Amino acid sequence: MKTAVAVLLLLWSGVVGVVAAAEQSCLTEVRAVQREVIALVAQQTQELQLAKAHVEKQIEDLKNGAVRPSNVAFSASLFTNNDTHIGPFKTDQTLQFNLVFTNVGNAYDNSTGKFTAPLNGVYQFSYHVYAGGDNGAGAKLYHNEDQVVAAYNHVAPHDINTSQSVILTLEKGDTVSLLLEAGWWVASYLGHLTTFSGHLLFGSLD
Ligand SMILES: *[C@@H]1O[C@H](CO)[C@@H](O)[C@H](O)[C@H]1NC(C)=O
Ligand SMILES: *[C@@H]1O[C@H](CO)[C@@H](O)[C@H](O)[C@H]1NC(C)=O
Ligand SMILES: *[C@@H]1O[C@H](CO)[C@@H](O)[C@H](O)[C@H]1NC(C)=O
Repeated sequence: MKTAVAVLLLLWSGVVGVVAAAEQSCLTEVRAVQREVIALVAQQTQELQLAKAHVEKQIEDLKNGAVRPSNVAFSASLFTNNDTHIGPFKTDQTLQFNLVFTNVGNAYDNSTGKFTAPLNGVYQFSYHVYAGGDNGAGAKLYHNEDQVVAAYNHVAPHDINTSQSVILTLEKGDTVSLLLEAGWWVASYLGHLTTFSGHLLFGSLD
């Protein structure tokens, strides 16, 4: 009987020992996971702080009126103080829209009439002309040295109102402008009937 009790006690202490060892190794694992979690939280906190600082900087820039390069839009007409015509000229001329309504990003140059793409991207342009001329009337849109679209009438016994719109993929530095052919004129009236506008739809900084 005594022997049996001794054996049982021995077995019991063995079980307790195994359980204690198992508990110990489990605790070690829990602590390891705990350390990993703490490290992850610290890392994510740092990343979130960086993201927060970035957004705060953008808000600050917006408040200060800073213009990001993705903000590009212009709209212009012809300055006038009376109802007059631009043209007809003896040679082809780039139309210089010198009355600027909007020029966000300063990509449109009111002294040359040329828009210069500040970044690679897809841009939309539109124009309307109240035009006339003996050998036709209208305006043609040029991408660098190439004509892309036109809005005109070959035979124009009278003046016409015409317009055009186009979406172009441009590379940084490309220019877009409107050409008035020799012999054509456009109205520069107080009502500003002749306009040229454009804006960036989406672009990249590449
Ligand atoms: C009409 O305006 C144009 C452009 O501003 C100017 O060159 C021209 O002299 C003006 N004509 C008259 C009659 O005021
Ligand atoms: C033309 O552009 C220049 C330079 O950006 C600016 O100072 C001037 O006010 C502009 N003129 C008009 C008529 O918008
Ligand atoms: C062109 O539009 C202007 C302004 O709306 C108007 O005064 C003129 O008569 C129009 N011309 C033609 C030929 O439709």
